[in-house]
Amino acid sequence: MNEQKTHRLYRHFQELPLSMRVLFTGALLAIGLGYLFALIYVYQTDSGKDGNPGLSVNDIVISYSGSSEGTRLETAMRGSMSSMLPPDERSEILAWIHGGALKGVYETDIQPLLEKNCLDCHDGSNPHLANLDGWDNIQVVVDHDSGTPLNQLVRVSHIHLFGVVFIFFIMGFIFSHAYVRPVWFKSLVILTPFICIVADVMSWYFTKLYAGFAYVVMAAGAMMALCFAIMWFTAMWQMWFYKRPGFLVRDDVDGAET
Ligand code: HEC
Repeated sequence: MNEQKTHRLYRHFQELPLSMRVLFTGALLAIGLGYLFALIYVYQTDSGKDGNPGLSVNDIVISYSGSSEGTRLETAMRGSMSSMLPPDERSEILAWIHGGALKGVYETDIQPLLEKNCLDCHDGSNPHLANLDGWDNIQVVVDHDSGTPLNQLVRVSHIHLFGVVFIFFIMGFIFSHAYVRPVWFKSLVILTPFICIVADVMSWYFTKLYAGFAYVVMAAGAMMALCFAIMWFTAMWQMWFYKRPGFLVRDDVDGAET
């Protein structure tokens, strides 16, 4: 294959009128800034959910499928209620929550501890305090955090799919004017984000069923960001700084700047 041969309809950036290059540059600048903010947003909403700084697979799992920790009871006992009972009894209750808050264990071991330490205040007589008296009331405070609710995921899914297609259509369209070889690589960089967004959105749902899909969410996000970076920098560079090889210079269009 002749690497130098370009498609009849192909135009390199520098063959395009100045006005078009200015349009592309403006769009790239604004979209690039938008992408940065999107990354910051993801980082600050999802990172640290597992208690460790930084964005990890665990954070993604907690965001989408929820956590066995983070029940109201545990949060309270690690926080403002921590001084209400001796540490060993506290550990026992926490272990019970992590074990799935089973009813049998509650009746034999946990209920007596709550009665002894907590029911003075939490017996239901004060409507402003969580009622901890009896199995049904306990259910309310050990209700598991089940992650982002489905209806919210559905809403975010369609916004996300439409939004990302807009971004990557614009990016891919601009990038198509770059000179990149081999052509399959150029095409792959254009196509990959679309595959990633579908895999990403699908994995939000699958992560609810099987936590391993959190890796797909992360990998898809990383691949999308990588393709974005490749397209952004290649386009900017080839538009303004790149020295075209001779075979890309066409006499019929060059020199006409507007
Ligand atoms: C001296 C009274 C008192 C005792 C004893 C007490 N609490 Fe509390 N509890 C409060 C008050 C007041 C609040 C509301 C203010 C706050 O959250 O700090 C509260 C809030 C809570 C909440 C609600 C947090 C939320 O998400 O709304 C939980 C759960 C809780 N306590 C659990 C316990 C447990 C478990 C014990 C026993 C180990 C206990 N409390 C012992 C007074 C008490």
